[in-house]
Amino acid sequence: MTEKKGKYYITTPIYYPSSNLHIGHTYCTVMADAMARFKRLSGYDVRFLTGTDEHGQKLQAAAEKAGMTPQAYVDNVVAGIKELWKTMEISYDDFIRTTEPRHKERVQRIFMKMYENGDIYQGEYEGMYCTPCESFWTESQLHDGNCPDCGRPVQKAKEDAYFFRLSRYEQKLIDLFENNPEFLQPESRRNEMLSFVRQGLEDLCISRSTFNWGIPVPLNDKHVIYVWLDALSNYITALGYPDETELYETYWPADVHLVGKEIVRFHTVIWPAMLMSMGAPLPKQVLGHGWLLLEGGKMSKSKGNVVDPVKLIERYGIDALKYFLLREYTFGQDGIFTNEVMLNRMNYDLANDLGNLVSRTVSMIEKYCGGTVPESKVPGDHDEELKAVATAAAAKVEAHMDRFSFNLALEEIWVLIRRTNKYIDETSPWVLAKDPANQERLDTVMHNLAESLRIVSILINPFMAATSKEIRKQLGLWFAEVEWQDSFVFDAMGGETVKKGDPIFPRLDIEKELAELEAMIGTGGEDANIPLELKPAIEYDDFAKIDFRVGTILKAEKHPKADKLLVFQVKMGTETRQVISGVAESFKPEEAVGRQVVVVANLKPRMLRGMESKGMLLFADNGERCEFVTTTAPDGETVS
Ligand code: MSP
Repeated sequence: MTEKKGKYYITTPIYYPSSNLHIGHTYCTVMADAMARFKRLSGYDVRFLTGTDEHGQKLQAAAEKAGMTPQAYVDNVVAGIKELWKTMEISYDDFIRTTEPRHKERVQRIFMKMYENGDIYQGEYEGMYCTPCESFWTESQLHDGNCPDCGRPVQKAKEDAYFFRLSRYEQKLIDLFENNPEFLQPESRRNEMLSFVRQGLEDLCISRSTFNWGIPVPLNDKHVIYVWLDALSNYITALGYPDETELYETYWPADVHLVGKEIVRFHTVIWPAMLMSMGAPLPKQVLGHGWLLLEGGKMSKSKGNVVDPVKLIERYGIDALKYFLLREYTFGQDGIFTNEVMLNRMNYDLANDLGNLVSRTVSMIEKYCGGTVPESKVPGDHDEELKAVATAAAAKVEAHMDRFSFNLALEEIWVLIRRTNKYIDETSPWVLAKDPANQERLDTVMHNLAESLRIVSILINPFMAATSKEIRKQLGLWFAEVEWQDSFVFDAMGGETVKKGDPIFPRLDIEKELAELEAMIGTGGEDANIPLELKPAIEYDDFAKIDFRVGTILKAEKHPKADKLLVFQVKMGTETRQVISGVAESFKPEEAVGRQVVVVANLKPRMLRGMESKGMLLFADNGERCEFVTTTAPDGETVS
């Protein structure tokens, strides 16, 4: 029996059910699942929480757009998310939805606790508001006048609101980061947050009255509680805090909150301050992981380039996808997702290294030993080296898992897999089999191979549970519980009946797969209709102020003082004027001449590097290059 080691509480962020989740979200949940399974297997009493963050203006707007009530809208998306986790065999113990009564009531109690402790007061908020991020910013926090988180424009906004005295916790947070380096990792994020807090914390506006899809403020039902206060509380409301104490007392404080790098600030500044205000212990650790990016940049629903995990699972299976995500990327750093890298990992590591080891071992035991795993009889060259690698692997995996280095933990397991494949070549069982006098040595080689593979089946269990089970079935170990302790010992087998199965990972034709995946990407699924992420809605009257005209480009040249600018002479009916655009990297000036384009003709003139620009041309922009918005209508005509 593996020794019992105490409790371990791990959480993922709760996801916005604004549309289906993509491979980036899957990445975080797969890591949390592997860790939860690893800790369970190594003897911990694990609680693994995930869920959905269902309130807020963005979700209300998405529901309105879809012509649904917010509740019906989120119910639908959440059902899909739960289905995805079921398909992926995510072993969560609880799934919390912020629209559940258990959560809503407890968030209101938390709000009152903070209020009673003198940390919440009523005031008026005036600031710069980013609607997509639902965040207020001070002027000094803006980047070039835009939201520092998402880069989109912000609007001045003013509202009656409740505030949390975040400023009161400034010094305590500084102490937390300084005295407790493990609290936030990786180190780079800790430094970032420490300097953020040192710049000074302002009180935080924690209520909204401009929309109503949220948990009402208990003191004033015209306000709803700020979505982050609502969301962060999930980690304890799911444990029954504050009214039901059993789970809370067993599992809180969390051992680790696993979160993406862009939400580290909420988890390491606002969340600890809230807990301090409630008088509750702080989580032991927050780990900020990097992002999965595409070669062209971010995965985004609006660009339509999200990678759909369901499609990949349908083609390659759950374990291949999990293995790839955990093996390829380094925790804490961003990584680029490409089909080619994924397919190569699947072919080399899974089909070749692991798949071959399983099929060779089982077929040889069938062929040379009548299908029964023999005892060890005659030692020989390479045995000791193989045993040493096999019995040292588990401790190395543990050490890497302690640091959330999933990739290095898997690499350790593959060191053993590759060593075992090499052992087959070194011992050449097919040569031994030619002479019956070698039978006892052949039996020993087969025994050692089975032992190695048995250890591999335990070590991969947290990462690839189904594959572990299949290997154990083929090895005749289907009856035995997987016990972590057993991965430290060699010579546990003898007498089991092996049974060859289908290849555990079929070899892929990479060229063919690449072509087919390429054709799939960008569809987001055949029938997906994903709402666009847009700037805030405007009134018709705002739109009607813009005077669009058709123009013909008569001349185009580079701006003498700015590499990125092109200077156009544009004829709009009776008038020809100069317009400057930042598109020099997208095409050559001569390619523009003669184009019929759309001009914002009543934009106030501006000086750009010493030259006047009167108006603006419209371009379609894919984030990398711009193309003219063109028309066949004659120049001078209005566009409306
Ligand atoms: N609802 C908040 C979290 C509240 S937790 C109290 C939220 N939701 S989210 O759906 O936008 O994002 C959830 C998580 O998914 C974040 O940790 C985020 O970093 C992660 N990811 C979203 N896209 C990602 C990638 N492309 N790559 C890796 N993780 C990414 O934020």
